[in-house]
Amino acid sequence: LKETDFSAEELPAVFSLAQQLKQSRAALFGAGSSARVAPEFRQLNAQSWGMIFAKSSTRTRVSFEVGIQELGGYPIFLSKGDIQLGRGETVADTARVLSRYLHGLIVRTYAHAELEELAAHASMPVVNALTDFLHPCQIYADLFTLAEKWTAKTGGNNHSGGGAAGTVIGESLVASLRGRKLAYLGDCSFNMANSWILGGALFGMQIVLAGPADFGPGPQIDALLAEAGLPKNYVFTSDAREAVREADAVYTDVWASMGQEDEARERRRLMEPYAVTRELFAAARPDAFFMHCLPAHAGEEVEQAVLDDPRSIIFDEAENRLHIQKAIMATLCASAAAGHA
Ligand code: CP
Ligand code: NVA
Repeated sequence: LKETDFSAEELPAVFSLAQQLKQSRAALFGAGSSARVAPEFRQLNAQSWGMIFAKSSTRTRVSFEVGIQELGGYPIFLSKGDIQLGRGETVADTARVLSRYLHGLIVRTYAHAELEELAAHASMPVVNALTDFLHPCQIYADLFTLAEKWTAKTGGNNHSGGGAAGTVIGESLVASLRGRKLAYLGDCSFNMANSWILGGALFGMQIVLAGPADFGPGPQIDALLAEAGLPKNYVFTSDAREAVREADAVYTDVWASMGQEDEARERRRLMEPYAVTRELFAAARPDAFFMHCLPAHAGEEVEQAVLDDPRSIIFDEAENRLHIQKAIMATLCASAAAGHA
């Protein structure tokens, strides 16, 4: 449901598994096979996973549907309006009923409390596919993407094996994130900013957020950091250039998120100083990466030239959603089988 539901100790294994799944898939494609996953990775064999989506989605929906199928499972997409939840059936009853049919549930909705209520009444793993408050699958994919880039640059070993060797690779991926600075620009009060604060804290990164004064992180995210025993690792400033200075990665997101369409005009006016232009991006380290969860609005929060820059890794992030989510589902599935979910 949130980044801190995996401990810092568990995440290297999740990263290792994602890397193995990615390499296995690439090898099968390269060999011209119609299969996309080796038999040893069919962790969701014969399982049915539901996907309740109350908001639009391209990446999350498709990467989860493909990922569930590739792990040997069967995805059932349920737009909120198609099920009785959209006509007033309670969240608790929906969770109880679906738990009788399904092995796991992916949920994209507005209120984070609704996701928590579904999970509280479900007897299967429930995965956050974005709420107004957090987007953990995106952050895990983003962290994995940065770790891949930074271990490749420092000559890190990208050949993972299984078991203990795989965990060692995962640990080197995770270690590559420690101490790095990420600048986040724009709306610093919503899901992506909150998720960077939590994900950054978990991996020892320094997160500097810049946006209009009324769009800063709220007390709810500080409460989560405290609850997880993590340090308050972030700074919020109104100075975009100061945020980007010496940054190893520069991140932005849309200024008007899903559900905020009516505020788009006013938000454009307020957030314009935080647009990632070529000039602003040049203030980061020369080897800094540009990142965006997508969809992007070129000409608003980011200039097209920055999206097209060789240091833009937006499509690697999108691809890695598939691999990391497969690793997350396989891990939860193993945990549920062991009676821990
Ligand atoms: N980044 C992301 O979650 O994209 P979608 O809204 O297309 O799923
Ligand atoms: N902040 C955006 C993220 C989309 C992936 C939104 O919630 O619409």
